[in-house]
Formats: sequence, C-alpha cells, structure tokens
Amino acid sequence: MKFSVSDLSDIIRERRTIQPKDYTAREVHRDIIERVLQNAVWAPNHGMTQPWRFTVFTGDARQRLSTFLGEEYTRITPPDKFLQKKFENHTLRPLQSTVTIALGMARDPKEKISELEEMFAVACGVENMYLTCTAYGLGAFWSTGAATTGEGMVRFLGLGEKDKCLGLFYIGYPAVEWPKGYRKPLPDFVKWEE
Ligand SMILES: Cc1cc2nc3c(=O)[nH]c(=O)nc-3n(C[C@H](O)[C@H](O)[C@H](O)COP(=O)(O)O)c2cc1C
Repeated sequence: MKFSVSDLSDIIRERRTIQPKDYTAREVHRDIIERVLQNAVWAPNHGMTQPWRFTVFTGDARQRLSTFLGEEYTRITPPDKFLQKKFENHTLRPLQSTVTIALGMARDPKEKISELEEMFAVACGVENMYLTCTAYGLGAFWSTGAATTGEGMVRFLGLGEKDKCLGLFYIGYPAVEWPKGYRKPLPDFVKWEE
C-alpha cells in the first residue's frame, strides 16, 4: 500500500463542520492557509481549466466582508422574510473567524467545459480544504445562501461576469469539543449490479 488508507479514512471521517461562533480568537497562520489552498488546487478538474479563484479575507478585510454581507442580505431579502438572526449570522461570522475564503469559480473563456463541471471541480477543491483543516485540527464551515453565492458577491469579489461564487469557507481553531458525525449505513446509498 502506498499510503495508509486507515489514516486517510480517519481524516475523512473526522472532518466536521464547525461554525465560526465556535472558534477561538487564535489566528490561523498564513503558511497553514496557503497549504489549505495548495491542496485545493490539486483537485481534479475537467480539461485542466483550473477554475478555482480564492479570495482570502483576514485582518481588517474581515470588516469589509462583514459589512458587505449585511448590506447584501438586506438588499436581496424581501422585508417580510428579513430575520434579524440571519442578518447577524451574515455580519458576525467573518468577524468570529480569523480567516474566511471566498470560493470563486472562473469560467473558461472558451467555455469548453460546462459550468456544472467547473463547479464540481471547485467543490472537489473545497473537500481537499476541509480535509486539510481536519489534519491541522482546524474547524471549517462551508456557508452558502443567496448573499454569498449571488451576483452581488461576484461583483464584490471582482470576478468576471460569467464567474460564480460557490460560497464562503470559514476556518478557525475550535473552542468546543470536536463534534461527532453521523452517516446512515452504506446499503442506504449503494445499489450493486452484478
Ligand atoms: C455545498 C454545501 C453547502 C453548505 N452550506 C451550508 C450553509 O449554508 N449553512 C450551514 O449551516 N451548513 C452548510 N453546509 C454544511 C452542512 O450543514 C454540513 O456539511 C452537514 O451538516 C454535515 O455535517 P458535517 O460537515 O460535520 O459532516 C454546507 C455543506 C455543503 C457541502
């Protein structure tokens, strides 16, 4: 065996979503952030378009992201659907996390690969990010929703007209006990044809 499948399986199963409200204020070192992103770009991608475009928010930039998310949530939410709790989630998360990464997808100019496949490639990269965080003992949280994936966010990030944002990826050292995961048994998901 070239690598330990047991170690790999442990990392995959230990990977957990941990939200920014449960992070400590301890900063995630830039070397670690870079390793997380390096591992992301080794994900498979159809046609080698390498569609991932990351924007890393740290330091004062977190406040800019927080302000944008609050304004964007308010802009796109009909008044009767507006929830103060949701507004606070949008504005607080970038401040509770010492680093937040916007998950951009750049459309290949020739559009030789479908948009769906480009998004799959970015999603594969996100799983690599999650697993790398797990190996470092870092909590991570992939957050989606209209304010983080809409056209306003694409403009805020300075991405191209045809590009997309697949959400935000928060990273932080957990202040809570590492959560336990749960999955249904494999036969619930698998049909064997023999
Ligand atoms: C594409 C994608 C988008 C997600 N968006 C959200 C989100 O907007 N809000 C949220 O609370 N969790 C979000 N999650 C995280 C899931 O809630 C989480 O993965 C699920 O509860 C399973 O927990 P685990 O990641 O610890 O195994 C998202 C996960 C994926 C894969």
